[in-house]
Amino acid sequence: MKIAVVGTGYVGLVAGACLAENGNDVVCVDKDPAKVRALQRGRIPIYEPGLEELVRRNRTEKRLTFTTALERGVRNSQIIFIAVGTPTGEDGSADLQHVLAVARDTARAMNGYKVIVNKSTVPVGTAVKVREVVRRETTHPFSVVSNPEFLKQGAAIDDFMKPDRVVIGAEDPRGAEIMKELYAPFTRTGAPIMLMDCASAELCKYAANAMLATRISFMNEVANLCEATGANVDQVRRAVASDRRIGASFLFPGVGYGGSCFPKDVKAMVRFAAEKDYQFAILEAVEGVNDRQKLRLLSKMQSHFGSLKGKRIAVWGLAFKPRTDDMREAPSVPLIHGILAAGASVTAYDPEAIPIARGIFGSKITYAESSYAALKGADALAIVTEWNTFREPDFERIKKLLSQPLIFDGRNLYNPEQLRAHGFTYFSIGRP
Ligand SMILES: NC(=O)c1ccc[n+]([C@@H]2O[C@H](COP(=O)([O-])OP(=O)(O)OC[C@H]3O[C@@H](n4cnc5c(N)ncnc54)[C@H](O)[C@@H]3O)[C@@H](O)[C@H]2O)c1
Repeated sequence: MKIAVVGTGYVGLVAGACLAENGNDVVCVDKDPAKVRALQRGRIPIYEPGLEELVRRNRTEKRLTFTTALERGVRNSQIIFIAVGTPTGEDGSADLQHVLAVARDTARAMNGYKVIVNKSTVPVGTAVKVREVVRRETTHPFSVVSNPEFLKQGAAIDDFMKPDRVVIGAEDPRGAEIMKELYAPFTRTGAPIMLMDCASAELCKYAANAMLATRISFMNEVANLCEATGANVDQVRRAVASDRRIGASFLFPGVGYGGSCFPKDVKAMVRFAAEKDYQFAILEAVEGVNDRQKLRLLSKMQSHFGSLKGKRIAVWGLAFKPRTDDMREAPSVPLIHGILAAGASVTAYDPEAIPIARGIFGSKITYAESSYAALKGADALAIVTEWNTFREPDFERIKKLLSQPLIFDGRNLYNPEQLRAHGFTYFSIGRP
């Protein structure tokens, strides 16, 4: 099939490359000329495992191209995916300006029947708005489809190629049939294609993310209660997770959730519920708990040191999670700002995110070339992202490099008893 994917970020680039891999002709459109130029030269603007190779193969075989020219992309395609950002607007709602701009420009470029597929995460009612915008601009026939994306950064290609489910919200059978055909190769292993109305398709993406965010905030509160009562969250989590009705995913306490999706989607869901006079009380609490949790390591440092003035803290991990360089809403950001505001300095290391971090902190912090280099002379190590390379470090080397053997572990990577046996003062989340 001939496909245009508009918006070549995490979602658009992965979707475009994976659709090309299955034999489709895909043109990825982005309004950012620098990004498009880089992609045309084979440079991938984000870090996502396996993506570079996938893009290279499909470019070489001429199934995947990149352009800023939306009009040409639309005219040559039957299916147009909208995969642009839907950032948080001033009042917490999802800002739809990019989605609606692409819908309008797509409509103006149409030269026949098109399926306009919304892949961005958008509030209920957006398909209706997209349809109105398109109808105003063209007399050509079209179908509007909602096809929310559930991929996880860090495992995005696998998630797209082998999805748990494909959700297709469609209001007419023509659009639904084309989408079913497009996704058939991705669902051969038995994952269901779930056909539904557009409003339900739009809502299920928010409900899924909000549920995952709720599990994280819930477990962070359980961990905080463990600290207050002397219980151990490792034991509590294992017992809770072994209940088959509950399961083990997304129950690890830590420094709070971040990234480009959970924070913004929780906010947007609270907001569009409020617009319908519904107070989504659980999600309001989920957000408040998460904001507090992001500063949990800072309060542990403050209670340990009394004052942070003049201290130097080594920070391991800046990305909001491992296997990505994305720092949007990363817990490392408020934590580092908090440490700096308390009068301490920061030396940070991350395997992938340092170029992004430079854009956020500039020269306010120093950047280390390696995890160990960050430690030299620091008063403590704070662990913020659970990269695999941090899991089995050389503790004797850490001890020699730090000015005192002190670790604040926001990801519960180590065994507290073993660390104490190594001579460390060790603080983690929810464990004695
Ligand atoms: N990142 C994720 O893990 C993820 C997962 C599922 C769903 N989503 C949703 O998918 C959407 C996109 O997310 P993302 O992380 O890929 O965003 P992103 O910010 O990485 O990429 C968006 C891209 O769209 C481009 N763009 C904006 N307006 C444009 C226009 N008018 N014409 C052409 N290009 C335009 C931008 O230049 C940018 O390259 C969001 O709604 C997000 O919530 C994201």
